[in-house]
Amino acid sequence: MRMVDLIEKKKLAGVHDAAELRFIIEGYTAGAIPDYQMAAWLMAVRFRSLNRQETVELTLAMAESGRQLDLSQIAGTKVDKHSTGGVADTTTLIVTPLVAAAGVKVAKMSGRGLGFTGGTIDKLESIPGFRSALTTDEFICQVQRIGLAITSQTPDIAPADGKIYALRDVTATVDSLPLIAASVMSKKIAAGADKILLDVKYGSGAFMKTLPEAEALARVMVDIGNGAGRETLAMLSSMEEPLGTGIGNSLEIAEAIEILSGSGDPRLCEFCIEMAAQMLRMAQPDLSQPAATETIRQLLTSGAALAKFREFIEAQGGDGSVVTDPGLLGTAANCLEILSNQAGFVCSMQSAELGRGSILLGAGREKKGDPIDLHAGIKLHVRCGDAVASGQRLATLYYGKGVDPRQAKTLVLDSIQLSEQPQPCPALIAGIIAKEQSGAT
Ligand code: URA
Repeated sequence: MRMVDLIEKKKLAGVHDAAELRFIIEGYTAGAIPDYQMAAWLMAVRFRSLNRQETVELTLAMAESGRQLDLSQIAGTKVDKHSTGGVADTTTLIVTPLVAAAGVKVAKMSGRGLGFTGGTIDKLESIPGFRSALTTDEFICQVQRIGLAITSQTPDIAPADGKIYALRDVTATVDSLPLIAASVMSKKIAAGADKILLDVKYGSGAFMKTLPEAEALARVMVDIGNGAGRETLAMLSSMEEPLGTGIGNSLEIAEAIEILSGSGDPRLCEFCIEMAAQMLRMAQPDLSQPAATETIRQLLTSGAALAKFREFIEAQGGDGSVVTDPGLLGTAANCLEILSNQAGFVCSMQSAELGRGSILLGAGREKKGDPIDLHAGIKLHVRCGDAVASGQRLATLYYGKGVDPRQAKTLVLDSIQLSEQPQPCPALIAGIIAKEQSGAT
């Protein structure tokens, strides 16, 4: 088999068989297929796509390209969650202690931020002392002991995805439905959880710009997960405005603590309750939806979820007192208030642009490996639908010494658009895709 023939085949919209896809994945992972050929094939896939069977085969080949975690030593159902990437998306930080407090075992591997989207590992590293790289033994023991561990994705889990994702990021081939599906599901399958809840985002701040595109992606991923023997459910959620109000690593930890303490943004809070209830029901299928929601609400209001978050932080070497004193997270050297230059109603907030603004302030990376400022970012003071007076504070920018905030300020001002009349806000959760609805492969 020759890679050039497979590129030619996909260029002409041919259909690959399993052996061809394994040849590509194994060859690229081993270094036998060079970046330029892989990039050409990825671009052919971006335009010609992969059918359902090809996507399943690609995912399995990627999942099997490295080590597959065996979590069978951990008693009980292990539930994982994954978001396709968004802005101010703190759900992992809120939902995982919530469900762990309900007795569900959460063994989660997370990534770092890339592009305009944040990453849970960067956020957690803004907690003084927090250790994000656990050995497999530490990871498994911690889940057995306290029900929750979050570790950084190790290079030996789906290594094909690590290499391919880095190449996609610099060859404009991220926004391909089958490539996103294979990327997400290969990691989730290799990470070993029994059940997987996906949060598939759509809108200006997501890879999938429209709801139908997100729905199509969700259906493919739900099929792949269930086909691989892992019960998989997908929530479809809007990224038309940032999910929370903090965009930046320590700002997002502070926001998660606020929610777990029973206050904070109600939209984010309700979203997390819904997601946690879904995960709880996946682990305990006999529970009704209202009962699961009620259990989660109680764990939030009783402080049990916050206590679990503290236990988790301390188990990974972090300073647990941040949960009662978020000031210990520290703050950026400088801040700048952004005021509205007109009155009106917030009708749109461009999430991707706000994410880019926070990168300009130092909160994220332009490219893999770039250093980041864990205290930099944007705190939003308004949400879609809010009435705003002229001169009212829209956002605060946080940034370090030597950073010029002017470009970020322009981006923030351009991103928060006002209308004369209030406009309806899109519902946050647009639907749930389960196996029965997704159509068998
Ligand atoms: N998240 C992933 O893990 N992979 C993608 O390709 C896109 C989002």
